Amino acid sequence: MEIQSSSTDIASFEGKVAVVTGGSRGIGKAICDELIRLGAKVVIGAISDRGQKVAKQYNKEAGKKVAMFLRTDVSRYDDNKALFQLAESEFGGVDIAILNAGTCDNSDNLFTPLDDKLEERIFNVNAVGMIKSSKVAILHMAKRGGGSIVCTSSAGGFYSIPALTAYVATKHAVIGYVRSCAFLPEVCNVRVNAVCPTFVDTEFLDNVRTVDGIPEPYYDFTDTIPTVPMSVIIDGVFKYLGDNTKNGILYHKKINKKKN
Ligand SMILES: NC(=O)c1ccc[n+]([C@@H]2O[C@H](COP(=O)([O-])OP(=O)(O)OC[C@H]3O[C@@H](n4cnc5c(N)ncnc54)[C@H](O)[C@@H]3O)[C@@H](O)[C@H]2O)c1
Repeated sequence: MEIQSSSTDIASFEGKVAVVTGGSRGIGKAICDELIRLGAKVVIGAISDRGQKVAKQYNKEAGKKVAMFLRTDVSRYDDNKALFQLAESEFGGVDIAILNAGTCDNSDNLFTPLDDKLEERIFNVNAVGMIKSSKVAILHMAKRGGGSIVCTSSAGGFYSIPALTAYVATKHAVIGYVRSCAFLPEVCNVRVNAVCPTFVDTEFLDNVRTVDGIPEPYYDFTDTIPTVPMSVIIDGVFKYLGDNTKNGILYHKKINKKKN
């Protein structure tokens, strides 16, 4: 197999190809904005068709095709395969994957009805969906000679939030998965990291504050926690993408120590 490029050491984003799940709005959209600004091509996969408008706008501003959108449910392998295949057929391959799609629409899960679909839905998007996207991404990146994946976990991936118990469990799962991928540079030159923000002022918080439009009893608690500026998240994501020593959230060092 011909190795075309190794993008684990990303000195320049010019011409790199990025797949961004949940890139239609919020944090994912902000990451897309920065990728486009730096000269990368982006393929947005999101459950909402709003990503179509976002991609169109990038193309209009660039005066050429720099972005694509595909309606994607990350909890389905077929959708993930189609999304990454689109990046390959339109832009030649995949260097970067931002696995950011997430939901919090049954956050108050301890006191919601005993409905199988509630817990299944949040895990299928935030944890299982991220795992499925990553497996497809890794196959494409291995073909390319390497790549860099950044997942959006959460501060809830480390700490407890009693009002968001199931959500927090999904984000702990993301961190466990990312740490367990720390061996991948040895195998296929793919690095996997995660960013773990506290609250960010996006439409996501609407789903924390309400369920099906009905205000949650703990509605006010989101207003008492400081939000993290989007620029801080962008900084973290691009540090991970551009620095080839960052892998598996500091696990790279441990692997090196063992070798020495
Ligand atoms: N906003 C916060 O306070 C906050 C804090 C920490 C972590 N996060 C995480 O950051 C990520 C992005 O959050 P945001 O604040 O931008 O939220 P958002 O609700 O504004 O955007 C979520 C994105 O995910 C997409 N999405 C949802 N379900 C999907 C599915 N099944 N398949 C594909 N796409 C799907 C949506 O279409 C949208 O593009 C999420 O993983 C979230 O858990 C958010």
